[in-house]
Amino acid sequence: MKNILVVGSTGQIGSELTMKLRREIPQGTVVAGYIPGAEPKGELLESGPSAIADVRDAAGLADIVTRYKIDTIYNLAALLSAVAERKPLLAWDIQMNGLLNILEIAREKGVAVFTPSSIGSFGPETPHVGTPQDTIQRPRSMYGVTKVATELLSDYYFHKYGVDTRSVRFPGLISYTTLPGGGTTDYAVEVYYSAVKGEEFICPIAPGTYMDMMYMPDALRAAVMLMEADPSRLKHRNSFNIASMSFEPEQIFGKIREYIPSLQVRYEVDPVRQAIATSWPDSMDDSCARAEWDWKPSFDMDSMTVDMIKNLRIKLGVK
Ligand code: SER
Repeated sequence: MKNILVVGSTGQIGSELTMKLRREIPQGTVVAGYIPGAEPKGELLESGPSAIADVRDAAGLADIVTRYKIDTIYNLAALLSAVAERKPLLAWDIQMNGLLNILEIAREKGVAVFTPSSIGSFGPETPHVGTPQDTIQRPRSMYGVTKVATELLSDYYFHKYGVDTRSVRFPGLISYTTLPGGGTTDYAVEVYYSAVKGEEFICPIAPGTYMDMMYMPDALRAAVMLMEADPSRLKHRNSFNIASMSFEPEQIFGKIREYIPSLQVRYEVDPVRQAIATSWPDSMDDSCARAEWDWKPSFDMDSMTVDMIKNLRIKLGVK
């Protein structure tokens, strides 16, 4: 990886991944791709080039790839699960037509592509505990449908055309820099903001609902590690289970209360998000990622909580 295009660079993952790549690959160029209305600002804007990169505009993408001699694309454009249920056609357009544009450019220009999949690629018939790498994937949400299709199409371009496509199935991602927006796992980010601000948190997910979660620094490390992994070791490509922690709402609230005992929570379960959450794994088995590219998480619930609270207090100006 030298010259990299991050599509969706102002989103929850992209805003942090772009900065990490710029820090770690100073000899290359990392282009912050964005869509009008979600322009990069501050450090993201000032630390390197940016360009409009709408996945639905194949000619525009091809132009960026040529202009900056791009060798790797991180394709992070997506509507998250709850929003995709409200706008299924738009989700399909961005996640599928957009992906096809990127894969075609990658085929023509010899570019490697990382397009994340998700715990959302699994469904009610998937074994929920210790979800294996290779198992039943019959999701019922549009988000999940596009993620399974992303995995299949990415593998197709690898096997048929030799395009270097690689991917991980991200758990719910917890971070303090950029909010997610419209995901089923967002509650596990939002509760930290409420706790630090001293506000009551309204939880849309029912107690007892387990989902895989991960702290953003581990997720970013996984995305970079996999793209730098020795291809001869990869038996899988699209997409690897990765895991670090699994919890249900009461467990994360209990952990936060160890540091902010005043946290107040009330449940107002959202049926759309709850149905999606119930259909997803409780905990994934990531042994293939560990064996094929040495994946290992570094944060657990406790170290994540300490870091989240410390950084959110700084960000929100709260003592
Ligand atoms: N965080 C995502 C969502 O909730 C799952 O990949 O939609």
